[in-house]
Amino acid sequence: MKSSENNCVPEDFLDVLCDPVTRQSLSLKDGKLISGSGTEYEIHHQIPDLVFITDQEKNQYALELFKEKANIYDEHQHLSFETFCCKEEDVRNQLISRLNLNRGAMKVLELNAGTGRDTVLIQKKLSEDSKLYAQDISLDMLQVLKSKFNEGEVYLTQSNAEALPYKSNSFDAVYSFGGVGMETYSDTRRQMQEICRVAKKGAKVVIGGLGMAEWLKESEFGRILINHNAHYKNRFNLAALPVDARNVSISWILNGAGFCLEFEVGEGEPDADFDFAIPGVRGGTLRTRYYGKMEGVSPETKRLVQEAREKLGISMYDFLNRTLQETSKQILKGEETE
Ligand SMILES: C[S@@+](CC[C@H](N)C(=O)[O-])C[C@H]1O[C@@H](n2cnc3c(N)ncnc32)[C@H](O)[C@@H]1O
Repeated sequence: MKSSENNCVPEDFLDVLCDPVTRQSLSLKDGKLISGSGTEYEIHHQIPDLVFITDQEKNQYALELFKEKANIYDEHQHLSFETFCCKEEDVRNQLISRLNLNRGAMKVLELNAGTGRDTVLIQKKLSEDSKLYAQDISLDMLQVLKSKFNEGEVYLTQSNAEALPYKSNSFDAVYSFGGVGMETYSDTRRQMQEICRVAKKGAKVVIGGLGMAEWLKESEFGRILINHNAHYKNRFNLAALPVDARNVSISWILNGAGFCLEFEVGEGEPDADFDFAIPGVRGGTLRTRYYGKMEGVSPETKRLVQEAREKLGISMYDFLNRTLQETSKQILKGEETE
């Protein structure tokens, strides 16, 4: 990894970075990142500050909460897993394994990376020619993360997961634990849109976090945990997934107190054949049935039409299509009189 001017940001980092507001490329000048729009972004401790606040209240809540927690976060994390008789590293590794990181040289992005508890595990699974990128809105959390890595091993940004400072179609895999989908401090819909934008088509996305399974919320298990930490009440909003998501699956981890969502990034809506002829009396296709609706007719007309169709032995779609086209063409040619 070759560093550029002032050793602030490695040169190849600029290949994936962009202005989080305008999405224009960034260049390095006098220790700052400059956007094509002229906006200047500071770099603190070699971490570019590319935060664009999208929701004052929620983003501020996260910033304050994790500023306070950054120094003690690592001390207590294992307890959240031991509560469920699990080893933290095992749970995290199981989620990470769903990214299928053994696909050669990959660019991997971790969102809401915090103090890097997953980042260090992801790094161990990457090939030497892969690149690891991580972001978080809290500089305090990122500084703890940075202290766990040698220079050049991970590319960091302080940024908002709802307005990512990365170019579109940049990453082969995107991962997040404990951030994306946490309704108290995030806008899940915006985050999901951003994930699908920065991920390459075919990229794998894995998102885990706290969120009590619905059927456990009223159980003693559920009530004790929610009483301890309101984040267990979180419910991942599946409606926030973009239509580009393919092969989506959701499962429960931590004995039902957390979720894991995984999917691949596709393009646009899923494929389907809406144009095959549907056999039977009604006939037509899925598309004609959706788009071909017209005004209703009187009961007498309907009875006559049904009788005529039966006499011809064709589907209702073929009868209506044929009859209406013929009549319309005659009218348009001026052959029909009142
Ligand atoms: C519960 S911690 C999880 C940290 C880490 N992923 C882990 O599993 O230990 C949530 C993290 O999300 C970050 N965060 C909250 N809102 C964010 C946002 N809008 N954009 C980026 N990071 C955010 C917080 O700063 C915090 O580090």
